[in-house]
Amino acid sequence: MTGFEVYDIIVVGGGPVGLSTGWQAAERGQRTLVLDRHGFFNERCGTSGAERHWRLQYAQEDLFRLTLETLPGWRRLESLAERTLIYEIGSLWFGDVDVETNEGQIAETMRVMDRLDVRYEALTARDVERRFGFANLPAHYAGFLQPDGGTLDVRGTLAAMYGLAQREGCALRSGERVLALEPDADGVTVRTDRNGYRCAKVVLANGAEVNSLLAPLGGRLDIKLYEMALVTLRRRGHDVDFPFWFVFQQPTEEDTNLFYGFGRNRWSPSDLVRLGPVFEVDPIDDADRTRGVPDTRHVTRLSTWVSEHLPALDPEPAGTSTCLAVLPGDPRRQFYLGLATDLVPDGHNIVLYSSGWGFKFVPLLGEVCVDLALTGRTRHDISRLAPTLPQEAAQ
Ligand code: BEZ
Repeated sequence: MTGFEVYDIIVVGGGPVGLSTGWQAAERGQRTLVLDRHGFFNERCGTSGAERHWRLQYAQEDLFRLTLETLPGWRRLESLAERTLIYEIGSLWFGDVDVETNEGQIAETMRVMDRLDVRYEALTARDVERRFGFANLPAHYAGFLQPDGGTLDVRGTLAAMYGLAQREGCALRSGERVLALEPDADGVTVRTDRNGYRCAKVVLANGAEVNSLLAPLGGRLDIKLYEMALVTLRRRGHDVDFPFWFVFQQPTEEDTNLFYGFGRNRWSPSDLVRLGPVFEVDPIDDADRTRGVPDTRHVTRLSTWVSEHLPALDPEPAGTSTCLAVLPGDPRRQFYLGLATDLVPDGHNIVLYSSGWGFKFVPLLGEVCVDLALTGRTRHDISRLAPTLPQEAAQ
């Protein structure tokens, strides 16, 4: 084919999963191109903010095993980039142990930790108050501290993977939008607003925008977009600090009633800490419609919870922002990861990752995308994540 640049793998989307794939594909000898529509390191498509939760624990044993299998990938990335990316400040889950959420369920997660022999400390509501400075928790609340969990340095991770991708010879192009994919039996033609390309495999790591490329081919993923609030608060004293914490509570009429917060970021000079509600309410239609301004009701709900239960923090927001959450429409699904074989014709030449709270899996997601592009399979058990058409389209 003339006039077309040729690659082995083209990755659409230069966020965390796209960079992880680009880096690891190039490292494995593939001529690789990563295309990002907005520009690398932009914070508009879900990768906003400085930190993400690192945790081992999941209520689903197969996902739990995937975090354990991701840890060596984080260590390898830290070692290659010569920078710390995981800060083990601990992962504290507490609240109503039977409440089911997208993030898991405390009681079942403790049973899986027992089965997998992963250490944790079981805590009562009083322990959580005494040890971590919470107050007025309902007496039936309970939970655990998993000491190997903590925080991930988001911007450090992106910079590390970008640098490694570049070092391995991966082509990285920003400000170039993919307009169409034309898969056939032998590969994929990729048309952008600037160029035409030909490659053996495409990896879609463009999160919220995945359907804009699948829909013209007759496919679609069931995803929902939420613009979630991020709230920055002042600690009342310099000695105040926290593990990552997540409170599981029964939903209210209006929202999921879930809140989380981080401790102070060890890699940052900032004295402030970031918290958020996880309210999967009022989905938006289009990632381009995010405003960067949180729903004031969500901010007030968080501030009120803090004023009642976290006296070590000043509940008056020192700053607010938002984060785009791209989640599977069916809350029983956690992510989509796999070949698009069941979604579109010649989908065996398209690998995709989309949706879910996936940052903790970033090194593994890149590895799996490259495995699937090269051989159609991976040693990791990703069976529950297989991309499928929405129920109504499949009938
Ligand atoms: C998580 O651990 O997956 C998570 C933490 C905070 C908010 C949402 C998800």
